[in-house]
Amino acid sequence: METSPPPLPRVCVTGGGGFIGSCLVKMLLTRGYAVNATVRDPRNAKNAFLMQLDGAPENLQLIKADMLDYDTVAAAFAGCEGVFHVATPVPEQKMVDPQKEMMEPTVKGTMNVLKASSAMKVHKLIMVSSLAACCFNPDWPQDKIKDESCWSDKEFCKESEDWYSLAKTEAEEMALKFGEKNGLHVTTLLPSLVCGPLLQHVAVNTTSKVLLYIIKGGPDMINNKFYPMVDVRDVAEAMLLLYNKAGTSERYLCSLDQMDLKDLLGIMKTMFPNYSYANKMVDVDFNVTFTSDKLKNLGWKPRKLEEMLTESVKSYDKAGLLRVSDGEPCRLPVFFRAPPV
Ligand SMILES: NC(=O)c1ccc[n+]([C@@H]2O[C@H](COP(=O)([O-])OP(=O)(O)OC[C@H]3O[C@@H](n4cnc5c(N)ncnc54)[C@H](OP(=O)(O)O)[C@@H]3O)[C@@H](O)[C@H]2O)c1
Repeated sequence: METSPPPLPRVCVTGGGGFIGSCLVKMLLTRGYAVNATVRDPRNAKNAFLMQLDGAPENLQLIKADMLDYDTVAAAFAGCEGVFHVATPVPEQKMVDPQKEMMEPTVKGTMNVLKASSAMKVHKLIMVSSLAACCFNPDWPQDKIKDESCWSDKEFCKESEDWYSLAKTEAEEMALKFGEKNGLHVTTLLPSLVCGPLLQHVAVNTTSKVLLYIIKGGPDMINNKFYPMVDVRDVAEAMLLLYNKAGTSERYLCSLDQMDLKDLLGIMKTMFPNYSYANKMVDVDFNVTFTSDKLKNLGWKPRKLEEMLTESVKSYDKAGLLRVSDGEPCRLPVFFRAPPV
């Protein structure tokens, strides 16, 4: 008598329709997982590509959930042994109400994810934090390389009205504390600027717009400051690596080596000489040195910068995003415009 194969392990990815979330969903489907992907609007055309991924018809469920609505979050985690928490806004425009637009979805949203993970007996929660939760710390000695022991200073973020860094720092700190107190296995990943090939072209995410602006140029002034980058596929790999190998309450920085914008432009102009490139640039005295050795020691092997750039440009070209338009000029997302530093 034929026996049916055992069911695949089921995991949930919050924000499954986003840039990083969708890349992770795609990878998990090819690595033997059944996936619940949360989206806020399953019927929105921007999420249609998800059901066309390899393995999606059999093993992907799109689940409508808002991180601010506990019941929808808990329902999405039902039957899941693991959760990858990715959903957080990454604003492109200046925020009118930072509390509502950034702090609440990030901090309250993460608290809902933490409580729902505990309630639904999730074994492991891997959460995407950000390098922004590590690198804004004026008290850190100038000559000391930043590592996972460095946290962004929340007062400093508040004073500089850097709501994104404040929200990511607060949410990550809260998640690690919650895990320790409640016996939930929580591990965090802190990627730098994430670029790489796009799976979805209907809604282009904020950081891909930064690289697009660097390539196409436009009216905005850009800081010549450090641009530590990492490929979205290597972020997804890192998350799965943490899921399988990392301990609880650990954080991991995740980036290629840092470089300033001028160096990046130099590399890009040599590789792709036919674009106009950003040329309005101001030198700023802001540098940061940090290390992703902890993640590399766990087995993380990121792609080279050149491969990430080649695949990014190829995917932008395929999506028609590099065409010169007669209408609106290309704009740099506000968060990256000069000033502030
Ligand atoms: N991109 C980077 O360079 C970078 C670097 C470090 C860390 N990160 C972190 O990585 C994560 C994903 O970033 P991304 O670049 O992939 O951005 P993205 O493409 O804009 O994705 C953000 C996702 O969050 C979802 N979301 C936002 N608010 C939500 C809410 N209240 N309830 C449910 N879902 C919500 C969005 O869903 P909708 O489609 O419904 O809006 C979207 O799927 C974020 O946590 C970000 O902080 C990103």
